[in-house]
Amino acid sequence: MAAKATETVAKAPRPAGTPVAKRPGAANAPEREAPKERHPATSNAARTTDRYFELKSEIHKKLIGVLDVDRVSSIPKERVRSEIGRVVEKLLDDERVPMTTAEQNKIVEEVLDEVLGLGPLEPLLKEASISDILVNSFDKVFIERQGRLQLTPVRFRDNAHLLHIIEKIVAQVGRRVDEAQPIVDARLKDGSRVNAIIPPLALDGPSLSIRRFGRHVITSDEMIANKTIMPTMLQFLAACVQAKTTILISGGTGSGKTTTLNAVSRFIPSDERIITIEDTAELQLQQRHVIKFETRPPNLNKEGGINQRQLVRTALRMRPDRIVVGECRGAEALDMLQAMNTGVEGSMTTIHANSPRDAFSRLEAMILMADLEIPTKVILQQLASAIKMVVQVSRLQDGSRKIINISEVIGIQHDHIEVRDIFRFRRIGVTAEGKVQGRFEWSGETPAILERLRIGGIKLPANVFDEAQDVNI
Ligand SMILES: Nc1ncnc2c1ncn2[C@@H]1O[C@H](COP(=O)(O)OP(=O)(O)O)[C@@H](O)[C@H]1O
Ligand SMILES: [Mg+2]
Repeated sequence: MAAKATETVAKAPRPAGTPVAKRPGAANAPEREAPKERHPATSNAARTTDRYFELKSEIHKKLIGVLDVDRVSSIPKERVRSEIGRVVEKLLDDERVPMTTAEQNKIVEEVLDEVLGLGPLEPLLKEASISDILVNSFDKVFIERQGRLQLTPVRFRDNAHLLHIIEKIVAQVGRRVDEAQPIVDARLKDGSRVNAIIPPLALDGPSLSIRRFGRHVITSDEMIANKTIMPTMLQFLAACVQAKTTILISGGTGSGKTTTLNAVSRFIPSDERIITIEDTAELQLQQRHVIKFETRPPNLNKEGGINQRQLVRTALRMRPDRIVVGECRGAEALDMLQAMNTGVEGSMTTIHANSPRDAFSRLEAMILMADLEIPTKVILQQLASAIKMVVQVSRLQDGSRKIINISEVIGIQHDHIEVRDIFRFRRIGVTAEGKVQGRFEWSGETPAILERLRIGGIKLPANVFDEAQDVNI
C-alpha cells in the first residue's frame, strides 16, 4: 500500500518545471516527442502524442493495482505523489523508456490529476485567467481568456476518458450522467458552473463547458480603455441608473451583455437593497446590500428545480429596492414587468436580441407565453411604461465589443414599441488589418429622460452630448 511505497521511492519529486539533467541514454531519445510543459495550455508547442497517453494510462492501470483508488482521496497527496513516482520509475525502467526527470515529474503530476482531480482539465482550472473551458470533443479543447477564444493542446485520451471525467464531476454533486440523463448542469467545488451533454444527444461524443466562478469581470474603466464605450456615454448611463431608470441590455451570445450589466449596476447607490437573480452567479456587485440568488436545475427525477420566475417572486417579497436579473429568457419576464410597474424601479436585465426593437418583440413574446390572458396591447403599454432605456451591445467582426446603441423608449406606434437612439456607434469602414473603424457619437436627439434626471437632482456633465470618439481612424 501507499505507506510502504514511500520508503521505496528513490527520488523525491521535484516541483514541476525544475531544470534537471537528462538521464543517461536520454540524449539520443528516439523520435518520441517529449512532453514539454506542465501546463500544456500555456504552450502551443506542447503536443501530446498517443504514446504519451498510452504511457499515462499504463501507469494509471498499474497504480490501480497497487493503490486502493477509492481510498486515495483520504491519503495525503504527497504520499500518493510519491507512490505514483515509484510506479512511473518502475514502468519506465521496465519498458526502457528514456525520460528526463522533468518529464517524469510532469507525468506524475498528470497521473495525480487523473487520480485525485479532473485529469486534463486540472491545469486549466488552476489558471485564474481562463474564464471559460469548452471541450467540444475529446481532442478539441478551447479556452476563453480576456474575451478571446483559443484552441489549446489539451486533450483527453478518447471519448471514454472524457466521459469518465464528466462522470467524476457529476458524481461530486451526487448526480448521474448516462443515456437516460444525457444532459447535466452541475457545479464544481469552486463554484464554477458545468454543462455537459453526452450521446445520444451529442452526436460526436461527449462535450463539456465550464464557466468559471469568480473570473475577472471587465470593469467600466476597462470598457473605456478598450473603447467598448466612450466616457460620456458611460456617464449618461450612470446618471440613468442613479435616477432609477429601468434598463434593458440587449445583445447576442457572448456580446458582453452580462459584462455590461455588471458594469452598469455598479452605479446603483450603495444604500439600496439589491437582489440579483441568475442562472449562474456571474455578477460581482460591490454594494453593501446585495442578496444573490441562483436558480437550481432539477434533479434526476426532474424534481426540486427552482427557476428564475420563482426567484423573482421570492425577491419581490423581500423588500428590494432593485432587482437585477442576469438574463431574461422566459416567464420571469412577466413577473419582472409587474414588479417594475408596481414600484421596483430601476431594475435591470439582459436579453438575447439583435436590436433594441427586436429586444421588445422578444420580451413581448416571453410575456405572452407566460400568460396568454393578457392582451398584447396591454403588454406593450406596460413594457413601454416600465422600461425606459435599452443598451445594445455587439461583438463586431474584429472581435471587439461595442455599445452600439443607447436608445430611449418613446412609446407605442403601429403596435410596436418605438425607440430612438441617444448615442450610437456609427461604423465607417475597416482598416487594412481588419479593425472596425467608426465613431461613438450623440444622435442629436435630446432625451426625454433629462427631465427625470433633473427632478431627481442628478447632474450630467455639461459636455455629455458634445463629445464624440473615433475608433481606429
Ligand atoms: N467590453 C468588453 N471588452 C472585452 N471583452 C469583453 C467585453 N465584454 C465582454 N467581454 C468578454 O466576452 C465574454 C462574454 O461576455 P459576457 O458578458 O459573458 O457575454 P454575454 O453575457 O453577452 O453572453 C467574456 O469572456 C467577457 O470577458
Ligand atoms: Mg451572459
